[in-house]
Amino acid sequence: MELLEQAFDASTFRRQGHEMIDMLADQLAENLDRKKDQVITWMDPDVAYQKWKDDWDKRSKTDMTDFFREVLKDSIALSHPRYMGHQINPPAPVAVLAGLVSDFLNNGMGVYEMGVVSTALERVVIELFLPYFGWEQAGGGFLTSGGTLANLTALLAARAQVTERDIWKEGTGEQLALMVSEEAHYCVDRAARIMGWGEQGIIKIPSDQRHGMRTDLLEKYYREAAEAGIRVIAVVGSACTTSTGTYDDLEAIGNFARERGLWFHVDGAHGASATLSKKYQYLVKGISLADSVAMDFHKTLLSPALTTALLFRNGKLRFRTFTQQADYLFERIEDDWYNMAKQTLECTKLMMSLKVYSVCRSLGFETLESYIDRVFDQTKVLASLVEKREGWELKQDPDCNIVCFRMSGTENPNELNEFVRNKLIAEGKFYVVRTILRGEYWLRCTLTNPFTEAADMEDLLALLEGYAGEWGA
Ligand SMILES: Cc1ncc(COP(=O)(O)O)c(C=O)c1O
Repeated sequence: MELLEQAFDASTFRRQGHEMIDMLADQLAENLDRKKDQVITWMDPDVAYQKWKDDWDKRSKTDMTDFFREVLKDSIALSHPRYMGHQINPPAPVAVLAGLVSDFLNNGMGVYEMGVVSTALERVVIELFLPYFGWEQAGGGFLTSGGTLANLTALLAARAQVTERDIWKEGTGEQLALMVSEEAHYCVDRAARIMGWGEQGIIKIPSDQRHGMRTDLLEKYYREAAEAGIRVIAVVGSACTTSTGTYDDLEAIGNFARERGLWFHVDGAHGASATLSKKYQYLVKGISLADSVAMDFHKTLLSPALTTALLFRNGKLRFRTFTQQADYLFERIEDDWYNMAKQTLECTKLMMSLKVYSVCRSLGFETLESYIDRVFDQTKVLASLVEKREGWELKQDPDCNIVCFRMSGTENPNELNEFVRNKLIAEGKFYVVRTILRGEYWLRCTLTNPFTEAADMEDLLALLEGYAGEWGA
């Protein structure tokens, strides 16, 4: 009992909590001021493993502050303006505090009784966002753990609309398929395979020069599938693609889906949030034609991961996805919006709504809009700096906050760019990622930190040029 009393000691919690918040606030300030110049502390995986194994061997039970300090030191710093890597935003500090509260409460949310506040807040949050899709009348939705899960759940909902049979009871019984751009995130492919549709179940539509879906080919691929006895039930649009940040023409896909009676899902994990921006909402023109949209709050809406909305134009359809009965959890009530596990794959679920609601309540939609405008604008600044600079090549004008570019003027740009990125990561003063586009190696930045300035971008390009001087040396 003594051990357990120590584990739950309120005064230790208070002391460690105060030290922790001081430490996090110091790191935030240092990062934003660029006083700390390390963005990533690269370590060989085996070295990192050995370091933490040693920590375990030498651990002291009481002193957690040093441990957390070390974790902060070695972890990639999203709040640093020179973080320009993968698509995950630095969370707004208020959302971090909401995360702390939700971890403390640990309300499971599978049933209403286990999340009275967070369930109600979830409905409020969903209703705050539905108007941005034109779905305030009949729309509905919920929060779930990430874009991957949201896309799978949306496609399960689409599958449940196949009316001739009860797929939940009888299985699919025929070859079903979805159509999606070849540039879509891999999780869409994975969802089709999880549903047992196999390779034939995912029809990849070629993309154009800008890596957007060739919507002019939808009809051709649809007909070919029908002739081969494959029943297409859904089309997925990307808003936007992962590699290049290209938005598919959602209006064209939506019109095609309507004509054919197909479910239209938008994977807006990264960029559906453009609908909040007066300046950039043109990118998602046609999104209101969708039947469902997945949107990540941890990519462009300032929440910590994982926090994703799955929104439905017809909110009632979200109750048809899973028709299981679980008498130990649910009452036999129709469309009970407050029993979340009837709608989502999760049973126990994080209190995500607390984070989103805290951001909306304390910062307002105007902050979210200015965040989107800022990071999208700054990406155009980076693109123009690349274009103006000799020896550099821009893949394409960025639609949003993702941009691909590389050093050119050599016979082997793939090797050169890989070389300079590896040097960059090893030194750790900036973080950028890479992608392969049609066999070519490109550097790829996602600007998620609103405090990244043109001077940071100039410094990045100059540093990479310096590394290039060492190439082949
Ligand atoms: C377009 C797109 N869809 C889905 C995902 C997966 O989202 P999550 O990482 O939240 O599961 C990503 C992640 O990068 C993405 O870019």
